[in-house]
Amino acid sequence: MDHYCVFGNPIKQSRSPFIHQKFAEQTQQSLTYTTQLADIKMFTKAVNSFINTGGKGANVTAPFKEEALLLCDGLSETAKKAGAVNTLSFIDGKILGDNTDGYGLVQDLLRHNIPLKDSRILLLGAGGAARGVILPLLTQMPTSITIANRTESKAEQLCQQFSNNKLKGCSLDAISILSYDLIINATSASLSGTFPEIPADIITKHTFCYDMAYSKNPTPFLLWCKKHGAERMSDGLGMLVGQAAVSFKIWRNIMPEIDPVINQLKEKLENEQA
Ligand code: ATR
Repeated sequence: MDHYCVFGNPIKQSRSPFIHQKFAEQTQQSLTYTTQLADIKMFTKAVNSFINTGGKGANVTAPFKEEALLLCDGLSETAKKAGAVNTLSFIDGKILGDNTDGYGLVQDLLRHNIPLKDSRILLLGAGGAARGVILPLLTQMPTSITIANRTESKAEQLCQQFSNNKLKGCSLDAISILSYDLIINATSASLSGTFPEIPADIITKHTFCYDMAYSKNPTPFLLWCKKHGAERMSDGLGMLVGQAAVSFKIWRNIMPEIDPVINQLKEKLENEQA
């Protein structure tokens, strides 16, 4: 039986063991998937002990995604551009790193029938979460991605790092009033129960609003979008399952079905709430 895990601190809240167990059942793969609480200063040690006990691969979550990148012998282009790794594979004594967060987002948007080709995208935030999804979004050939951030210089910096003429950076209050097809909240504002302050005029009933965060109740950002006329929206639960599916594919070379697991996870969350 092959062993996988997710490293993080804290980690108890992780839904990954549940998701991977469902993928394994669905695809009839024999594996275990556990959570591993890593000491803040002992991430490398924790990974090495997992490898020594026969671990085949691991996911990495906060706060170790950047540190994980430094540990790898080989990196995918997506992980390099994201500057962070969320998927490790241990193969023939080597550590290979990838980042599936952006693919998870793209998978989920396509599942919602959001055409990304030739679309105008507004990406809110310029931290690690935003950076991680830029390359996978660009590969879908949108017309433009506007990166708007509270601190303008960070948005500009991101544009420079990717040096792609489809990217444009600005501050939240300087967002051009255009008809965006898609607005993605990649800020961490939801963690503090708030949302990025953007001009309300950019929301129309045709705009799809996506929050990379998820919670039992609609996130503050999605509530705000709805109040200002948005009719189509989603939180990031599907992205969570989508990124896990792509990790599973990297390790097991089989792509699990995402929809049934999203439903199983929703059901589990509702039961926990009850
Ligand atoms: P993550 O890894 O989740 O992206 P991060 O790298 O700390 O976390 O980045 C957090 C992002 O959310 C930043 O873009 C931050 O804006 P600043 O660069 O100006 O700090 C953004 N953010 C956090 N709280 C916010 C809020 N209340 N309103 C708007 N943006 C916010």
